[in-house]
Amino acid sequence: MKHTTKSIINKKGVEKLVMITAYDAIFARLADKAGADLILVGDSLGNTFLGFDNTVPVTIDMMVHHTAAVSRAKTNALVVADMPFASAHHSFDRLLDDAKRLVQEGGAQALKIEGGAIIADKVKRLVDAGIAVMAHIGLEPQQVLRLGGYKKFGANDAERAKILADAKALEEAGAFSILLEMTDADTAKLVTESVSVPTIGIGAGSACDGQVLVCADILGLSEKVPPFVKQYAKLGETIEAAYRSYADEVRSGKFPQGK
Ligand code: KIV
Repeated sequence: MKHTTKSIINKKGVEKLVMITAYDAIFARLADKAGADLILVGDSLGNTFLGFDNTVPVTIDMMVHHTAAVSRAKTNALVVADMPFASAHHSFDRLLDDAKRLVQEGGAQALKIEGGAIIADKVKRLVDAGIAVMAHIGLEPQQVLRLGGYKKFGANDAERAKILADAKALEEAGAFSILLEMTDADTAKLVTESVSVPTIGIGAGSACDGQVLVCADILGLSEKVPPFVKQYAKLGETIEAAYRSYADEVRSGKFPQGK
């Protein structure tokens, strides 16, 4: 079944949602064949496949290029693309231009935007323009330079109240789902029970309506992984061994065979 924002919303309280990141057609197709409900073309593109230290250097051109590659896999999973660093803080016209590029050139079916109640008015205007928006609150990795690192949010009363208020404002603005990153598990549960749209957690406990992980982390391709990640394979080791066998055979003359 080809997913839509409606089919994703309808899964709340019925079945857990599965979201996996992908940045190209090969990995998107594999995530889709495995039954992912949503594929996120995350700006984690930057600190995984593009080799940057964090997501800040990722530009709209990079996001459009990789989103288009994922869309060409023609998945049943809903393709969600990240709005890159600071884009929600541009003028609305520029934000809309960037959003249109991800949808029209990249083929994204929905966009994920980091930010709380402060961007709710812009989220509402995007939704009014026909763009499906997934909100992203809790830890916002695009704030890494200001924060001086990554940390968990929502463990104290003030942060819990802010995350709940952000979630409600973004739901009210029309977001079709809310991603909660590195959010205290009790706070994530409270948000999940307080909004009518699905929550998708990463490092936010088990009460969320769904979970997302970065493909390189799941597959054992990342050099460092956050503590909440579970690795389901060690593909880094498998790939290195295959490359080593190929190199050995080229050097020894075993490959290619014949003339
Ligand atoms: O960019 C990304 O992959 C993300 C996830 C960490 C949720 O935003």
